Amino acid sequence: MITVFGSTNLDQIGTVSRLPKPGETVAGGTFSMAPGGKGANQALAARRAGADVRHVSAAGDDAFAELALDLLEQGGVDLSHLRKADAATGIAMIFVDAKGENVIAILPGANGTVSAEDADRGLAALTEADTVLVQQEVPQAATRRALDIAREKGARSILNTAPFLPDTAKLAPLADIVVANETEFSLLTGRPIDQLDAAMAEWVNRTGRTIVVTLGAEGARARTPDGPIAVPAHKVKPVDTVGAGDTFCGYLAAGLDAGYDLETALRRAAIAGSLACLKPGAQPAIPAKGDVDAIAG
Ligand code: RIB
Ligand code: NA
Repeated sequence: MITVFGSTNLDQIGTVSRLPKPGETVAGGTFSMAPGGKGANQALAARRAGADVRHVSAAGDDAFAELALDLLEQGGVDLSHLRKADAATGIAMIFVDAKGENVIAILPGANGTVSAEDADRGLAALTEADTVLVQQEVPQAATRRALDIAREKGARSILNTAPFLPDTAKLAPLADIVVANETEFSLLTGRPIDQLDAAMAEWVNRTGRTIVVTLGAEGARARTPDGPIAVPAHKVKPVDTVGAGDTFCGYLAAGLDAGYDLETALRRAAIAGSLACLKPGAQPAIPAKGDVDAIAG
C-alpha cells in the first residue's frame, strides 16, 4: 500500500501560441481545467500503475474541490484522509505554449493548511510493508513529520524534491529515496549539472541512501550504495510535459511496492513519464499500466 502525503490542486490551463513576457498581453488560445497538484498526480499515477493508494491531503470547501478530486475518486484512490479545509482548493495557473514549454504559478490555498497533525492521522496505520511518497507543495514541517513517521514505522519513504524549497537539503537525507530533476539536484548539492555523477556518488556516501535524478528525454539515473543505474526514456514527441515528473514518481513507488527491483521500477517509471507527455494536462495524461506494460515487456 502506498500513502501519498501532499497537495491537491485544480489546474487552470491556458494553451497559448507563446508565453507572455512580464507586462505583455498575448491573445488567443484555449482554456481548460484539469485535476492536478503534485501529491494528487503522484497518487493517481501509483494507482494507475496498479497499487493500492491512499491520498492524505486537504481541499477547500468549494466547488473546485469536486473537480480536483474527480479522477482520484473515479480511479479508486482512498480519500478517507482527505480533509476539507476552511480555505480555497489549491489552484495552479498554467500556460503551455505551442512547443510544449510551460510556466506555472501555484496558489496553495488548502494545501497550505496541511499539518503535522494531518500526517499523524493519515499515517497512523502505516506498516513496514508500506511506502510513503511525499513532495513539496505542502508545508515542510508536515512533510518532515510524514518522513519521520515512515522511519519510525519502518516503511519505505520517497521524497520528490519538487518544487524546490529553501529547507529541501535538510529534509532530503530523511528519505530512503530522493527523486530530483537536474535543476533540483544541482540546488540540493550545490554542484553544477556537469558534475552529476560525482555529486550523486557524494550524496550516497554522505547519506547512505538512494538518489534518483530524472533527465527528461535522457531518461533517469540513480545511485544506491551498490552503485549506479541508468535507464532510458521512451522516445516521444512531447505535447505537454506537465505531470511527467509526477507520473515518474508514482510509477516508481508503485513498482517498488509491487516488488520490482529498483532498475525495473525505474525503467517502467521512465516509460510512464514519457507517455505522460503525449496528452495535455497532468492527471488526464497519466498512462494506464497496460500501456506501460506494452512497452516495458
Ligand atoms: O507537477 C505538475 C503539477 O504541478 C500540476 O498538476 C500543478 O498542479 C502543479 O502543482
Ligand atoms: Na501532460
